[in-house]
Amino acid sequence: MKIDVRQLLRPHLRSFKAYSSARTEYTGHNAIFLDANENSFGSASGEDLNRYPDPLQKQVKHALYRIKGIPPENIFVGNGSDEAIDLLYRAFCEPGQDNVIICPPTYGMYQTSAELNNIQLKEVLLNVNFQLKVDEVLNAIDSHTKMIFLCSPNNPTGNLLYEEDITKISENFEGLVVIDEAYIDFSPVASWSKKLSQYPNMVVLQTLSKAWGMAAIRVGLAFASEEIIRILTAIKPPYNVSKLAQEAALKALNNEKEKLVMVEEIKEQRKRVINALKGFSYVKEIIPTDTNFVLIRVENPNDLYRYLTNHNVVVRNRDTTPMCKGGIRITIGTKAENDELLGLMQKYI
Ligand SMILES: Cc1ncc(COP(=O)(O)O)c(C=O)c1O
Repeated sequence: MKIDVRQLLRPHLRSFKAYSSARTEYTGHNAIFLDANENSFGSASGEDLNRYPDPLQKQVKHALYRIKGIPPENIFVGNGSDEAIDLLYRAFCEPGQDNVIICPPTYGMYQTSAELNNIQLKEVLLNVNFQLKVDEVLNAIDSHTKMIFLCSPNNPTGNLLYEEDITKISENFEGLVVIDEAYIDFSPVASWSKKLSQYPNMVVLQTLSKAWGMAAIRVGLAFASEEIIRILTAIKPPYNVSKLAQEAALKALNNEKEKLVMVEEIKEQRKRVINALKGFSYVKEIIPTDTNFVLIRVENPNDLYRYLTNHNVVVRNRDTTPMCKGGIRITIGTKAENDELLGLMQKYI
């Protein structure tokens, strides 16, 4: 699907000039930096933190290139993928005029960000198998529809969306198809980022918050065409990812082996937790999952939730989420954490 990104962009941004600092304009080495009103004496913490961080996160992008084979020009690094979601709205959706399509039950920030930006939401519920109703999604598109958010594997249901459904939507929509792959590392499928050259209207979101275990540093990623990445980079706050976050991200990315080991352990625990859950008669349904969590349906979710919380185990009550009646979402923890959870669930009647 060919798209005109310039045409999709909000009109007032078509001539927008990104904030430019003297530091980014200077290409030499060993300068005395008296341009940014930093503290040249050092930092109160005693660490090397008195200078603003690299606004383009070059080292992080290079590490991602090495790991994922995606060139730096196709990578946006944000303050969590939540920042990328917000910037996509701010770049492409005119408040009070444009709309986006989401497919609940799904990740809540697509809606929160839409509301924050005064963008109309069109909701097309997933079907009973938590798969896309492709024709209904395509029928919901109008001339003001700028983005369709697809989460695969989906949160809170845990399942992957069918490849052919995502393909059909991507091939029949002239706006952006945003595929959120926050949980891709726990699934057996390849990332849609491998197909970016085929789909110039695709934006793939990933994060270091899940499989990489780096939720504290808030680093999220968007992969897309150079044109889309240029736009996100132009409108982001100049120093959106701190030096501490960039350093920690780099350290994690240079230690991919550890991520792979943790993912295998989590998958092992997932199998074990699901097997144990099958033994509890009050667990009415276990939704198949390709993530590091599992959604179950129980007879009395509010009661189970309260019982677990009272015993200091916090899970997510999804009872009021569309199509998730009776739903409790459980993150797969360490063996000890899962032992505690399952022991409590065993005693719960
Ligand atoms: C589907 C999905 N996307 C994005 C995020 C947020 O990621 P980040 O921590 O990078 O903002 C989450 C967090 O739970 C999520 O479930």
